[in-house]
Amino acid sequence: MPRDFLSLADHSPEQIRAYLDLARQVKLHPQGFRDVCRGRTLAMIFQKPSLRTRVSFETGIYQLGGQGLYLGPKDIQLHRGETIADTARVLSRYVDGIMARVFAHQDVVDLAAYADVPVINGLSDLLHPCQVLADLQTIEEKLGSLAGRKWTYIGDGNNMAHSILFGGALAGMTVAVGHPRGYAPDPEIVTRARDIAARTGGAIQVTEDPGLAAQEADVVYTDVWASMGQEAEHAERLKRFEGFQVDEAMMGRARPGAIFMHCLPAHRGEEVAAEVIDGPQSVVFDQAENRLHAQKAVMIKLMGDRW
Ligand code: CP
Ligand code: NVA
Repeated sequence: MPRDFLSLADHSPEQIRAYLDLARQVKLHPQGFRDVCRGRTLAMIFQKPSLRTRVSFETGIYQLGGQGLYLGPKDIQLHRGETIADTARVLSRYVDGIMARVFAHQDVVDLAAYADVPVINGLSDLLHPCQVLADLQTIEEKLGSLAGRKWTYIGDGNNMAHSILFGGALAGMTVAVGHPRGYAPDPEIVTRARDIAARTGGAIQVTEDPGLAAQEADVVYTDVWASMGQEAEHAERLKRFEGFQVDEAMMGRARPGAIFMHCLPAHRGEEVAAEVIDGPQSVVFDQAENRLHAQKAVMIKLMGDRW
């Protein structure tokens, strides 16, 4: 198992399977894991806001017997020019693991390079692996299997699209991304996901036709049109993403038993219609809950006593 959790693509399909099996056990038997990180501290660096990531990591480490230390944008010296390298080396003298939510993905890579303790990516501009680990757990719970399923993502080719490409490919799924022109996922990520899919029996489809992407999907997923840090582009993106809302017509193209997923926070009336996210096919709050279980699995493996 890699020492850090920066990208799903750093893992083999078997390692992802091990995380998912442990996450399932943690969810079923939380009491069995309550001392696994006794006395351990997780530093949680946040350069951006968060509800789910902050609360699920802080609660999760507490439930494992340890404690979380919230370090917001104004709390530490990064914004005053202290380097990532120095921050990593100093934190390593105090804590047992670092979770970081950053803008530049290179920042989590550098944190991991200079830290002596495991580093977990709690979202970067490029990737959101914790979310997708929880999403894989949710899909498996709801549909009973992953391999061979079609996972469609409609919207911006952003951090969520990228991690879904990796996670779906690792699980042997068909991942379809339907994006507006000019908002495609990173071609290097797509190529890497295709390489993974070639080994797992999965497949990758990237298209500017959202209806085609949604066709026969088992999972329809979307995310905000303007991510954290892109607030100034919001009005422009509203225009450019017209036709990419996941509404009931779009869900109608998917398989009858398809589920709707969203990492949250959501904007009803923009990327998703209220009837869909608040409707019977939506599993968004199970996804949010599974962040807790999946991330406890990550902390157990990277910071725990017996693992
Ligand atoms: N999905 C997710 O990561 O939510 P937060 O930004 O609230 O942590
Ligand atoms: N793409 C979104 C995901 C939020 C969980 C963002 O980066 O803001």
